[in-house]
Amino acid sequence: MFKTVEWKNNSVVMLDQTLLPGKVVYRKFSDYRQVADAIKKLLVRGAPAIGVAAAMGCALGALGIKAAGLGEFRREFKKVSALMASTRPTAINLFWAIERMNRAVDSHCGGVEGLKKRLIAEAKNIHDEDIKVNRRMGAYGGRLIKNNSTVLTHCNAGALATAGYGTALGVVRGAVDAGKNVRVFADETRPVLQGARLTAWELMRDGIDCTLITDNMAGYMMKKGLIDCVVVGADRIAANGDVANKIGTYSVAVLARAHKIPFYVAAPKSTMDLRIKSGDSIPIEERSADEVTFIGGVRIAPDGVKTKNPAFDVTPARLVSAIITEGGVVRAPYGRNIKKLFP
Ligand code: MRU
Repeated sequence: MFKTVEWKNNSVVMLDQTLLPGKVVYRKFSDYRQVADAIKKLLVRGAPAIGVAAAMGCALGALGIKAAGLGEFRREFKKVSALMASTRPTAINLFWAIERMNRAVDSHCGGVEGLKKRLIAEAKNIHDEDIKVNRRMGAYGGRLIKNNSTVLTHCNAGALATAGYGTALGVVRGAVDAGKNVRVFADETRPVLQGARLTAWELMRDGIDCTLITDNMAGYMMKKGLIDCVVVGADRIAANGDVANKIGTYSVAVLARAHKIPFYVAAPKSTMDLRIKSGDSIPIEERSADEVTFIGGVRIAPDGVKTKNPAFDVTPARLVSAIITEGGVVRAPYGRNIKKLFP
């Protein structure tokens, strides 16, 4: 299995996802500002992978701090973590990982060099835990997938979007690992084409049957009876079970309900934001107009046309059949049942 993001010899190495599927290029960063830039530019993307990259960016920033004492170190570290936190606003895993790094800084009472080592260890823990959590999620979620069924997915919630194994694609892998025959239909996912470029790439590498469709084909495929269930990932889940995920997820959920097809969300507990009551308060990232007016560097719309480019939408909890987590499968009423995951 390829590595999405990794800590190696005091630097952060990541697979440049902007170049996939054409080129497999790993980039090595030894300055935390480069890591922040890579997150913004989608070299690394997907909520859990963003969290891991940000934690490693914080560790990298910590290594570069020259401080006489803990007080000065803490002040400098705040600047590093603030830059990391400014990269992408919707994925809560980013803030969750940065908070973990800040907690390590705040609770440390030894020397500065010891704290730097501790921060590197914490970033590596966040990475390793993510893979374990995804495998647990895959085992729970795999049971929901019937043998000989076809799963529709949107965007890329696979190994590329995490430290490894994936969330939505982790559920597919869980079913396959359990011996089931599963096919995947992948929405291409305009405007950035994570489905076409990334989901198709990683599933084909794994030998999992994958059929690429354009976003506007999903309804037709459902009506033809070609889809048995939908599994997607999430960038943030509110306390009431509303789910923010890649733009277009809401449309797929509405279609799934209209065709009486189960709509599952696979996400770790670190994607749940209990401080946010409903999806209405989830900040939605607006990205550059160029993502809409260009495809692969080629202009497809008139210069100067007005555009909108929200990167995410919110699917109301009432359209979600179940949320698959590492703590088990959660169903409605979500408000009550999500809370039980955090005793
Ligand atoms: O803009 P992206 O590519 O970071 O968006 C990714 C998604 O929307 C994923 O579905 C989500 O982060 C879950 S990844 C396990």
